[in-house]
Amino acid sequence: VRFSERTSWDLASTHLSGVIARARAARPDLVDLTEHNPTRVGLRENAHLAELLSSRAAAIYDPHPMGARAARQTVAGYYRDRSAQVDPERIILSASTSESYAWLFKLLCDPQDEVLVPSPSYPLFTYLAGLESVRLRPYPLRRDEGFRVDTSSLIDRLDARTRAVIMVHPNNPTGTFVRRDDADAIDAACAERSVAVIADEVFLDHTHRAPGPELASSFAAQEHAALTFVLSGLSKVACAPQLKLGWMVVTGPDALARAALARLEVIADTYLSVSTPVQVALAAILAESGAIRDEVCARLRRNLAALDAAIADVGAHAPMRRLPAHAGWSVLLEVPRIYDEDRWIEILAEEAGALVMPGYFFDLEHGRTLVLSLLVEPEAFSAAVTACVATIARHAS
Ligand SMILES: Cc1ncc(COP(=O)(O)O)c(C=O)c1O
Repeated sequence: VRFSERTSWDLASTHLSGVIARARAARPDLVDLTEHNPTRVGLRENAHLAELLSSRAAAIYDPHPMGARAARQTVAGYYRDRSAQVDPERIILSASTSESYAWLFKLLCDPQDEVLVPSPSYPLFTYLAGLESVRLRPYPLRRDEGFRVDTSSLIDRLDARTRAVIMVHPNNPTGTFVRRDDADAIDAACAERSVAVIADEVFLDHTHRAPGPELASSFAAQEHAALTFVLSGLSKVACAPQLKLGWMVVTGPDALARAALARLEVIADTYLSVSTPVQVALAAILAESGAIRDEVCARLRRNLAALDAAIADVGAHAPMRRLPAHAGWSVLLEVPRIYDEDRWIEILAEEAGALVMPGYFFDLEHGRTLVLSLLVEPEAFSAAVTACVATIARHAS
């Protein structure tokens, strides 16, 4: 048998996976600061979600390729609450945001066509694109300017093979929003070159402090000259990745949006991947999701405060720094360049009893950054980051 080129991944375990396996074996009390699964971090408000899925209507199979109309109206209501008027006929449901990406790459790209992605950002893009034989071309976010999109570098990279530009708003793991003026410049450049825009807003609601509507408003609330797809889903909106429901909103010039929707409908019809129970329950799930997000956002703030306090305790010349962010479930910790990330991870596991992620997973510059999950239960988070910060300070002195 010959397997496809695009699945020829290097599946050998890395040095880091060995480090992690040894650390877990040596320390059963290891606090996992890489945990991003919201169903495993003791959130109270998610406990009764399963009860919402047991309606009798869920026993009847009456599929619509774009998703049940009532469910799409519910998604339109989600946007109405965020000052965006969205026609339910412009919404398509999928099983997840990841699946929405796969459908968009099928819609927009032939093999070897290119999609621009932010760097640093979410590592799964490599796989999502690779599986559709699409090439990713990174464009830089400027670390020294709060990970602002480098708009001119992005526009320079648009060429005859570019089919789409992905913007992650707010970005994972940097937690930074795309500025409105940058988004407008990119929209104009994409429209001029017939390139589509994909705005990934899965973390839109998970803000640390109110960043202001100017920064944190949805792409669905703006007019666009370029064909634009706005992506989100229940994974983050309801902190419920197990429910498997995502969506996209198609906006931009009317004729283009209609043409895109007609093709997407066929793609969606080929899979019919969204389950009936979750569509039937969507109105109830979204109605209750505000409480879950409030619980999560309070936790994000509390954990950030604990990390800031631990760093402040080290003193004015602390050798580490927490990078500013507005939103999202991760925080970036800048560490001294005395070791590489794998060595820091080994040291923190052995000496501080905490497991963290290397920044290079997200294409952050090598040797400088560790990534911590802010979803972790607060007492455990506070104890673990205090131990991490003290350990880093000891090694740096
Ligand atoms: C930026 C970003 N986009 C998309 C996804 C995937 O979301 P889903 O679970 O809906 O596939 C994630 C998951 O963490 C993410 O961080």
